[in-house]
Amino acid sequence: MLQNSRDRAPSPSVQPHLSDHEAFLADVLTGLSQPRKSIPCKYFYDQRGSELFEAICALPEYYPTRTELGLLEAHAAEIAQLIEPGGTLVELGSGASQKVRLLLDAMAGPVTYLPVDISGAHLQQAAARLAADYPAATVIPICADYTQSFDLPELAGVRSGFFPGSTIGNFAPAEAIVFLKRTARLLGPGSGLLIGVDLQKDPAILLPAYDDAAGVTAAFNLNLLARINRELGGSFDLAGFGHAVRYDPALGRLEMHLQSLRPQIAAVAGRPFRFAAGETIHTEDSHKYTITGFQALAGRAGWQPVKVWADPGQLFSIHFLRAAGAVPRPRTQAVSDLPT
Ligand code: AVJ
Repeated sequence: MLQNSRDRAPSPSVQPHLSDHEAFLADVLTGLSQPRKSIPCKYFYDQRGSELFEAICALPEYYPTRTELGLLEAHAAEIAQLIEPGGTLVELGSGASQKVRLLLDAMAGPVTYLPVDISGAHLQQAAARLAADYPAATVIPICADYTQSFDLPELAGVRSGFFPGSTIGNFAPAEAIVFLKRTARLLGPGSGLLIGVDLQKDPAILLPAYDDAAGVTAAFNLNLLARINRELGGSFDLAGFGHAVRYDPALGRLEMHLQSLRPQIAAVAGRPFRFAAGETIHTEDSHKYTITGFQALAGRAGWQPVKVWADPGQLFSIHFLRAAGAVPRPRTQAVSDLPT
């Protein structure tokens, strides 16, 4: 992987994981064998799915992306101070590394930026572009699945995590606590976390954001079946399924489903799966929080609220959290280690 401004041997930044194809097959077969069928939402993001997601982010109904970008832009100077120049910024699921540019633009001094993403080729390209545009930043891409444990190279200075986009909403609250605890361990005592969190709101705003008039989100959802057909030898008739969206206000949970429009059988890798008319495959949960509700959840994972920003319409929030414990002192040579 790219090692900018470093001349020693690269640390092992590509971490082992199961074959992507094997994991995809196993997860789809398991998910379709449940009484309530489901498929993990991380499988949306093949080439076409990633393009469709980018199109979703630009939709008039999909408020999260532009609201979060507006908040990052409006508060970049204050956020940059909390991140602290000379420190390390670790972005979990960095994708094209677009949002971090707003922060790097506002950083007063040098920063080490570690984009972490599972898509190696995409990661390397994005990191190279970023390193070219920000000569003051040391860019060290880490190819890893941030939902699993992974290691960071040892780095001096205050560490901060960056987890924008309300991707935390894909986790159920109990899973979010596990993830936030693991992130606190990864970043270390006294570290910071800048995290985007979508807010609970009127379903009249929420539902169209996931069921847009142009049908982009429907295409994004249905692309999962196209991907299964192509990569796992599936026999799904895409015309036999519809895009369905529900909001559960008690759980603060937006759900996406693929709904069978008639009784039918679809095979995956030679295994048949029966669908009743109206039966669904649950494909995504997107949890929405109140500001205090999210702070309470983060607190249970060891993160204390430092500052929160939200737009006047209370659509979206960005939290800066601090992990319990003292910030480790920079690793300078201790006096007792010096030759006498
Ligand atoms: C990437 C998880 C933040 O939940 O809003 C957008 C994904 N799904 N439209 C979200 C998504 C359908 C998105 N996250």
